[in-house]
Amino acid sequence: MKAVGELMKVFITRRIPHEGMKILTAAGVCEVSQWDSDEPVPRTELLKGVQGAQGLLCLLSDKIDAEVLDAAGPNLKVISTMSVGFDHMALDEIKKRGIRVGYTPDVLTDATAELTVALLLATARRLPEGVEEVKNGGWSSWKPLWLCGYGLSGSTVGIIGLGRIGMAIAQRLMPFGVKRLLYSGRTAKAHAAEVNGEFVPLDSLVSESDFIVVTCSLTPETQGLCNEAFFSKMKKTAVFINSSRGAVVNQEDLYKALSTGQIAAAGLDVTTPEPLPTNHPLLTLKNCVVLPHIGSAEYSTRGVMSTLAARNLLGGLQGSDMPSELSF
Ligand code: NDP
Ligand code: DGY
Repeated sequence: MKAVGELMKVFITRRIPHEGMKILTAAGVCEVSQWDSDEPVPRTELLKGVQGAQGLLCLLSDKIDAEVLDAAGPNLKVISTMSVGFDHMALDEIKKRGIRVGYTPDVLTDATAELTVALLLATARRLPEGVEEVKNGGWSSWKPLWLCGYGLSGSTVGIIGLGRIGMAIAQRLMPFGVKRLLYSGRTAKAHAAEVNGEFVPLDSLVSESDFIVVTCSLTPETQGLCNEAFFSKMKKTAVFINSSRGAVVNQEDLYKALSTGQIAAAGLDVTTPEPLPTNHPLLTLKNCVVLPHIGSAEYSTRGVMSTLAARNLLGGLQGSDMPSELSF
């Protein structure tokens, strides 16, 4: 039993935006220790830092498994991740121990959708290649056949996982003159009507789309979903975009598809591993645009994510409502 005035121990695995820290400090109910760095907490420090904690505020790069939970011990009441994705947490182990989980849906939807559209346009219209040619002197003249790419007008777009972010991407893409919007997932979505979305089997989406955008969550079912068989069904002129999680894609198969002309181009905001080693074969390809997982990297969004993560943590610590509690 906590004595009156006793502070609850919290461990934060990284330096986070000041908005979230301010909320935790002002609440006056917890004693915070933190891995105060922009770089990930080493595993040994995580296992040490979490000992005896009642609350843990973590990021998507921290693997929260049985070992971490055991290191924390029986006092751990709440884990608050500053992310909407929760594939880095062993939910079965967390559930067994009766620990509550907070996450950050909705507040990063717009930022991630915007970035995904930017990545799609950059990939389809070959922006990084163009910028490079300007810098390296490859720009000799205006040439009718040089640096041509693919446009959205009149196209078919396929979205794998029409959830919050998938839907926000669809809303942003339709005004470009997209002709058909296909989507796949476990169930048809009522909100798809807003973008004239057609719920189709994955195979149809893959073979009919000019642009495929992956926005599903990473689950055992979606792990490795985009593999050789998947890429072989795509149009040779199609562009593949992934802003969900790297593990949804078999990167060796993607490399083969891109380097043999099986598909036109790919844009990835997420990879396996992260960071992608600088000597990775995908980085040798002109038709592959790789970003360093920056979907939600917008100043105000990250501030709001930290605020929500802090509020979730406080709710869990105090046994009250958490603004965004994961049900699992
Ligand atoms: P949602 O839960 O709203 O959407 C996830 C979607 O995945 C649902 O529509 C679900 O469809 C779909 N899905 C689940 N299983 C499958 C399957 N087997 N096949 C196809 N679709 C499936 O989450 P968000 O839109 O908020 O976020 C989605 C993901 O985006 C996050 O989990 C995270 O991994 C990633 N993300 C990446 C960011 C970045 O920086 N690049 C930023 C933010 C999020 P159904 O309901 O039919 O199962
Ligand atoms: C998430 O929240 O899951 C993203 O990948 C980063 O914002």
